[in-house]
Amino acid sequence: MGKQGCNAPAALAFFLALTGMVLCGCGNLWAQSAAKQIAVPLPPMGWSSWNSFSNTIDSQITLDQAKAMVANGMKKAGYQYINIDEGWWLGKRDEDGNIVVDPKAWPALAPGEHAGDMSNIVRAIHGLGLKAGIYTDAGTDGCSTTGPDLGPAYPNTGSEGHYEQDFLQFAKWGFDYVKVDWCGGIKKNLDPSIQYAEIARAIARAEALTGHRLYYSICNWGVNSPWTWAPNIGGSTADIWRTGGDIVAPIVANSKNSGRKASFAGVLKEFDSAIHSAAQHTGFYNDPDMMVVGMQGLTEAQNRVHMGLWALAGGPLLAGADLTKLSDQALATLTNPEVIKVDQDALGLQAVKVAEAGTGLEVWSKLLSTSGERAVILLNRTSAAAPIAVRWSDLGLSGSSSATVRDLWAGKDLGRFNQSFSATVPASDTIMLVVRGSEGKLTTYKAAGHGVAVTKDRPLSFTNVATEAKVSQILIAYTNPDKAPRFAELRVNGQIATRIAFPSTGSGNTAGAIWIQSLLDRPGAKNVLSFSTTGDAGPSIESVSLK
Ligand code: GLA
Repeated sequence: MGKQGCNAPAALAFFLALTGMVLCGCGNLWAQSAAKQIAVPLPPMGWSSWNSFSNTIDSQITLDQAKAMVANGMKKAGYQYINIDEGWWLGKRDEDGNIVVDPKAWPALAPGEHAGDMSNIVRAIHGLGLKAGIYTDAGTDGCSTTGPDLGPAYPNTGSEGHYEQDFLQFAKWGFDYVKVDWCGGIKKNLDPSIQYAEIARAIARAEALTGHRLYYSICNWGVNSPWTWAPNIGGSTADIWRTGGDIVAPIVANSKNSGRKASFAGVLKEFDSAIHSAAQHTGFYNDPDMMVVGMQGLTEAQNRVHMGLWALAGGPLLAGADLTKLSDQALATLTNPEVIKVDQDALGLQAVKVAEAGTGLEVWSKLLSTSGERAVILLNRTSAAAPIAVRWSDLGLSGSSSATVRDLWAGKDLGRFNQSFSATVPASDTIMLVVRGSEGKLTTYKAAGHGVAVTKDRPLSFTNVATEAKVSQILIAYTNPDKAPRFAELRVNGQIATRIAFPSTGSGNTAGAIWIQSLLDRPGAKNVLSFSTTGDAGPSIESVSLK
């Protein structure tokens, strides 16, 4: 179907309604405000024990870190999870298969509590106004069996064969978050998309039984491309998935591994591994690994680059340093409110590379929820200082209007500029900006009538879609009268589909809008966006809009 005027005659609209085909109209949907932006789950922020404590994690360390998070201002800045990683459990179960932990490592912390009950530490963490995370493996043998970092190997430190029991136990203990590793999965050559879906269903059943939700963190280091199957896996309404390896092996003070160093190259490698912008939307996030900000090996400038890249990627912000020993500068980097705001932007999208002036001289841009705003990083990967320019048109902003530029790390407004801004970026460094300009025009493709309900038997295709950018930001206007999100799969051209969450819009009459990003790889007006569902009713989709 070709481009049509915005007011289709009634007979044509009826025909289109029957076929599920679409009309195209023009306008700026930012300005139309017919569909209000719907909030999506944001990437988690917190601390994880692995990077600094390895297998030595216990109740005292956990408590000290939680107290430090409150005392040093990180909680106030938005950090909330205290995540206990590998080493808390050494593979022992009772005759009913229940996990048994070392009562000395996990003692009673308050009158009436019993040693060896993990709900003790959860209560203490909750008492500080924080949330608690726990860890297991999708296979039978966890990483403590296959390659312990410190101390002896312990068999059976995974949850395979006990999914129902273990995830119910985690929920009953009161945990709010669970990271599921893949050492045992690799060992047995399991299929991650099958195991992680089964675990998601076990988590949902645990929630149904306890009323307690576990946030789902998938950790299989990118094996079998989780960005292609992890969004909404097993019905999960929000999750994260690791996209690569560990930035650094744990640096544990007073141990044989105290001399290890985090590397800046490792930081850049995991940032690059996490860029899968078409998969990151509506509460589903690529996870480039826990941060090494504040750990030995990085300079303060490199800490800022690292933090900025994670925020721009919209990744989880999980500090891995020992929070009781952070330098003032590292703490300032971790808690910079303007940088955190970029990470926690309500659209929940990932930055895309929008220009590359020369090898290693890159411009990255993240669409933000305020109309006309972009978070931008000028990234110089080379070993010499170099100028890098960002053009407003590359950001999808009106090229003929001026825009203001703010340097986030300097905390300084740099002024108003026409068409572009250029700065000299030191070697192996970044400049992180927020650019505020005039939003470019969107073209809207309308579904027939007041929207088309996507069902199992009735997919909806938008054909002949044109775009200026290869990775396009796409605004989807829809309705979902349910309290819970509905889901639909989007396939763009012949690419692998992604499952999108459509949160409640309150009623079937009030349209809401979410943003996604897709690779529209066909030049001209030849792209095809097809929405479908496999089971439950999907949302009613009114339009898609893009530049
Ligand atoms: C894997 C993960 C790490 C950590 C360790 C624990 O390597 O990628 O983040 O959980 O296991 O053994």
